[in-house]
Amino acid sequence: MLSRREFIAKGTETAVSIATAAGAGLLAGCANSATSHPPMVSSFRDLAGSRSLRAHAHRHGLIYGSAVVIPIVQKNTDFADLLSEQCGILVPSNELKWVALRPSRDTFNFGPPDFLYDFAQRNHMLMRGHNLCWHESVPTWIRKIDNKDEIKQLFVDHITTVCKHYAGKLQSWDVVNEAIDPNDKLPGGLRKSFWYDNVGPDYIDLAFQTARTADPNAKLTYNDYGVEGDNDGDAVKRRLILEMVKGMKSRGVPIDAIGIQSHLNAGEKYGQGVADFIEAFHQMGLEVYLTELDVNDDATVSNDLAGRDAIIAKTYTEFLQAALPNPAVKQVLTWDLSDRFTWLNGLGSHRRKQPNRLERPLPFDADFKPTDCFYALRDSFDHRKRA
Ligand code: G3I
Repeated sequence: MLSRREFIAKGTETAVSIATAAGAGLLAGCANSATSHPPMVSSFRDLAGSRSLRAHAHRHGLIYGSAVVIPIVQKNTDFADLLSEQCGILVPSNELKWVALRPSRDTFNFGPPDFLYDFAQRNHMLMRGHNLCWHESVPTWIRKIDNKDEIKQLFVDHITTVCKHYAGKLQSWDVVNEAIDPNDKLPGGLRKSFWYDNVGPDYIDLAFQTARTADPNAKLTYNDYGVEGDNDGDAVKRRLILEMVKGMKSRGVPIDAIGIQSHLNAGEKYGQGVADFIEAFHQMGLEVYLTELDVNDDATVSNDLAGRDAIIAKTYTEFLQAALPNPAVKQVLTWDLSDRFTWLNGLGSHRRKQPNRLERPLPFDADFKPTDCFYALRDSFDHRKRA
């Protein structure tokens, strides 16, 4: 007998399966591209249905999706079509964060996320929430409060209100985002933040417990970056997150999944470190989502686009070869779908070596044409060897 939570999860995944099969059926008459790189793609629509990332992911036990900036989906119908053809799950890149969702104490801007939820439903897509708690999205109005008890109550009330609003609708929530920073030298490697200072180190447990109470169906996720690489810094952060999650499990804190953001750097080494990290969570019975995948090649000084694309695609392939074999990995989301909208081109020049050069991190270029990343992703889904 499925629990309500399992029923909803099954229901939504079934809906995705139906849509994916339907999508595939749309092209039933077309030769299913045996090769990865069909000779000619005149439009992104040639890659819908059985040729899509959504269909290839689904065939190998994965859900592929993307982060989106909601106003773009509302204004650009071609892009909305591309999303619905290629994605089985969406996440708002900004509109569920405190700053966008709650600009004042008494205002909840549910309009844009509600639009995205309806769009996802109409296209048989799942939706995930990002995020209920993040040090980088704390509205000014709450920072002006100097009463810690009041801040803690606001913290609980916010999570309760938002999770109840979407109860039974979202597949998962990034409940807490980026809570670990060993450079802050706090116990457990916790990041010094507004929430740490005002709610205390237990804010993490409190956030997950509050979210579960308000929405028993959503899979509750801890999401972080800087854990993907085979290097000492990422290894330290992996260890700290593992210790934090083991502690949460030992205290009975409800956590269901780990989000590995997967903001990768072209040419860096990704392999055993992230594979072992994922297996450790698999052993704990947690799911793993690759939540914000993209590849930044800002450090590569070159204007040879083909050469850049090849290195970027190779980085996708090597990382996914390490991550995808583990059955705990259930979702792969890129942090947007087209280079036209990548956050990387919006970074301040202080964070970029080549601020005037456009980044090429995603499966579709600025003209919505498939890039080498598209084929690297799709081939990686197809070559998923179950561990
Ligand atoms: O919406 C306002 C607009 O009204 C205003 O005119 C404009 C200029 O100030 O700012 C707009 O808000 C911007 C928002 O994106 C929406 O575009 C914020 O300034 C800007 O800081 C924000 O950047 C986002 C960033 O998170 C910070 O929230 C990026 O788009 C988003 O891609 C990025 O995503 C994060 C994940 O949440 C967590 N993991 C890392 C990832 C990349 O930094």
